[in-house]
Amino acid sequence: MQSPDVISVEKLKEFMNEAFDKVGVPVDDRKIIVDVLIASDLRGIESHGIGRLKMYIDRIRDGILNPVSQFEVLRDYPGTALIDGHDGMGHVISYKAMQLAIDKARKTGVSAVAVRNSSHFGIAGYYPLMAVKEDMAGYAFTNARPSISPTFGRDPMMGTNPIAFAVPTDEETPFCLDMATSISQRGKIEVAEREGKNLPQGWAIDKQGQFVTDPSLLLQLFAKKGASLLPLGGAGEDLAGYKGYGLAMMVEILSSIFSGGPFGWGLTGFDEKGKKIPHSLGHFFIAINVSFFMDLEEFKKSCGDLMRSMRNSGRLDPEQRIYTAGEKEVENVPRIRKEGVPLNETLVENMQQLKQELAMEISLPF
Ligand SMILES: NC(=O)c1ccc[n+]([C@@H]2O[C@H](COP(=O)([O-])OP(=O)(O)OC[C@H]3O[C@@H](n4cnc5c(N)ncnc54)[C@H](O)[C@@H]3O)[C@@H](O)[C@H]2O)c1
Repeated sequence: MQSPDVISVEKLKEFMNEAFDKVGVPVDDRKIIVDVLIASDLRGIESHGIGRLKMYIDRIRDGILNPVSQFEVLRDYPGTALIDGHDGMGHVISYKAMQLAIDKARKTGVSAVAVRNSSHFGIAGYYPLMAVKEDMAGYAFTNARPSISPTFGRDPMMGTNPIAFAVPTDEETPFCLDMATSISQRGKIEVAEREGKNLPQGWAIDKQGQFVTDPSLLLQLFAKKGASLLPLGGAGEDLAGYKGYGLAMMVEILSSIFSGGPFGWGLTGFDEKGKKIPHSLGHFFIAINVSFFMDLEEFKKSCGDLMRSMRNSGRLDPEQRIYTAGEKEVENVPRIRKEGVPLNETLVENMQQLKQELAMEISLPF
């Protein structure tokens, strides 16, 4: 049967829900995980929605990710907390940690929650947007398995360590910057491979410092630790790659050092003998209660004015819009809800494989 180009959001939700059910994820946790993954697909971030489902299911089946997530509060103060996630589902642990930060910030104005022994939590932007719904600003940070090299280095030492920051505004569109601290990330390389496109020069280097532009070769080199991604700013010092390197370090410190979790080798998902082990990621969440600083409506209007001043400033090319962070994603939501989530060959194969292996009952349009 010829595969359609898109799949409806409702069908995807149903598929994800049944898949997680089959591997033992409890119903309330499934709701959270599916919501985070669907938010990614709806926002047009193809690398972190349904595209990641098989990775989570495989890790649960490999015994390195606990389908039943624990949320152990190790330290609890009025404005801070430390959580141990016991290698459970990153989305569930992060949702609860951000919620805890929001609850604390209601009383303290600013709060921070550090998490250790968690796992891949999807798009970082989901969590500060939880704060925005409560008229707060939010930050989320996470480390990830090592893939970027430090300035003048050649070894993958840190993850693509994203930073997300969001604030409410007087528009439907919050300001939401949600970005890796590397120029690009693995998901985009996989997309380029599927589309048969070469990568731009400067995204990644091999062990000799040469740019790798063939996505298939790069993915093979990654598997042998023979290549690394470059931090924001790129190779060397000319374009200030050390600033991206510094930001990735900042995220690593917040995520692993504050939480007392591992970094570097400890995040690879393998022990020294090559046996699969939990990734034991760390996260850090901050909530800032706007009304502790100033009048909420004034704050929202000023943020809106700031965004509009950018968008309405002089354009280099009249055909090229000026955006503010989070704007493209907000515009994608109604369109993708209506048109459906784009499918590709790998996604179709993965879904068919999961359906068969997990003996799922859902009927698929391919
Ligand atoms: N969990 C993890 O381990 C992990 C690791 C890395 C990245 N991620 C996620 O991957 C996703 C993609 O990250 P990325 O760095 O590849 O994204 P990206 O390079 O596409 O940058 C996205 C950010 O830039 C903004 N943006 C895009 N074009 C813009 C423009 N013209 N003007 C102003 N702002 C603009 C977007 O609104 C968004 O905030 C994010 O959701 C991130 O959280 C997750």
